[in-house]
Amino acid sequence: MSQITCIGAGYVGGPTMAMLALHCPEHNFTVVDINEERIQRWSSDNLPIYEPGLLEVVQQARGRNLFFSNDIPTAIQQADIIFVAVNTPTKAFGEGAGKAADLQYWEKTARDILTHARQPEVIVVEKSTLPVRTAEAMSRILSSGSSHSQFSVVSNPEFLAEGTAIPDLQEPDRVLVGGEENVFGRRAARTIADLYGHWIVKDRILLTNVWSSELSKLVANAMLAQRISSINSISALCERTQANIGEISRAIGMDRRIGPHFLQASIGFGGSCFRKDILHLSYLCEYYGLPEVADYWASVVRINEFQTDRFFKNILKQQFNTLAGKKITLFGFAFKPDTGDTRDSPAISLCRKLLSEHAQVRVHDPRAREETEHDLASMEGDIAFVEDPYEAAYGAHAVALVTQWQQYRDLDYGHILENMMRPAYLFDGRNHLDHQYLFNLGYNVFPLGSAPLTHL
Ligand code: UDX
Repeated sequence: MSQITCIGAGYVGGPTMAMLALHCPEHNFTVVDINEERIQRWSSDNLPIYEPGLLEVVQQARGRNLFFSNDIPTAIQQADIIFVAVNTPTKAFGEGAGKAADLQYWEKTARDILTHARQPEVIVVEKSTLPVRTAEAMSRILSSGSSHSQFSVVSNPEFLAEGTAIPDLQEPDRVLVGGEENVFGRRAARTIADLYGHWIVKDRILLTNVWSSELSKLVANAMLAQRISSINSISALCERTQANIGEISRAIGMDRRIGPHFLQASIGFGGSCFRKDILHLSYLCEYYGLPEVADYWASVVRINEFQTDRFFKNILKQQFNTLAGKKITLFGFAFKPDTGDTRDSPAISLCRKLLSEHAQVRVHDPRAREETEHDLASMEGDIAFVEDPYEAAYGAHAVALVTQWQQYRDLDYGHILENMMRPAYLFDGRNHLDHQYLFNLGYNVFPLGSAPLTHL
């Protein structure tokens, strides 16, 4: 039996430890965090994050071999294995600001481990997405003190996507375990691989060196984001020609070499990972003297910003270049459906742009109320969250769909139209709705990447 501690009870640490605890009943898992409220919520049925199926998994293991605590020193003292899942935001100051990872929480964690660890052999598992070669820095910090513990650092990046965390953890495409290239390192990597081996078939568990493992995570996210920026860039071309982005996505996705996933044109990608990871990757390339490669990846982020800006500019243009005092309603604020997460959502920059034109902005989201209100509080202007979508759209000049929640397909658009200003506009930032039907009802419909349907 091992004592396993996870530092960081966020989107990665919480669900991953719950799944490990479920499948490895012989080991004890303790998830710790400095945030007391978060730990209290993990210990209740009002979990701090929304993930379909998560509560059921937590309930099965909690109190049996899954525990949540604020006592970080004790959890480190007892641990044979320590997962580090603290957040690594983009640096907001100094060298590399806006691009490099801010490693202050991560380094503090490394020093806490060095101070408190007591077991003779301790495996430290890097779970946060970190710049390549961070494991090496972690090793250096851990071997710098007078600790009696022998440490080995393993990289085990998390590939789960929000909203599908439980199926992604239950049946991952692959699990990556990067170990140091020495006897203890290889043994440590095998120990971690064996944990996952409780429910994942062997050939999906890849053992690599530490740097390949770290870099694979950044590259996977960069490649996914690059597909979205590629299709979004083509959606702009489609709007100037007679082509239809939905037809193009379908046609190219049927090429087995390309595949159908991540080809859905959108107002722009968001979430805590994509932009951050591409900027890390780009920064890394710059650091290693590869400015062309750095610029190639940075352009993925530029196209993403261009896409959100294009969406906004189209609203402005269709509203006769004046939004002052006009009510614009956003359907959706989360960066994607089935999550309450709004981090880096394109809705944030869209709202700011609308407010800079003095629009009156009303926002609805079926799940992300708390997070949205938190984001709106930092914005200046006439903006508010409205709990009911019909009320949010009451008297609006335009509705802009930002997040493709299922609920938005099921609304009574005839009823919404009755209470909107005329001409009524609908901008579909996800191509989520039935455009012909809405046009027939009387809306002027502006899809992404195909001709508008207008009565004008
Ligand atoms: C992503 C990775 O998928 C995951 O492997 C990694 O661990 C963390 O980052 P996540 O941020 O949860 O996961 O969301 P994901 O489903 O990948 O979507 C990211 C963004 O891209 C969302 O804003 C989504 O709406 C957008 N998207 C996705 C598109 O605009 N078009 C698509 O075709 C697919």
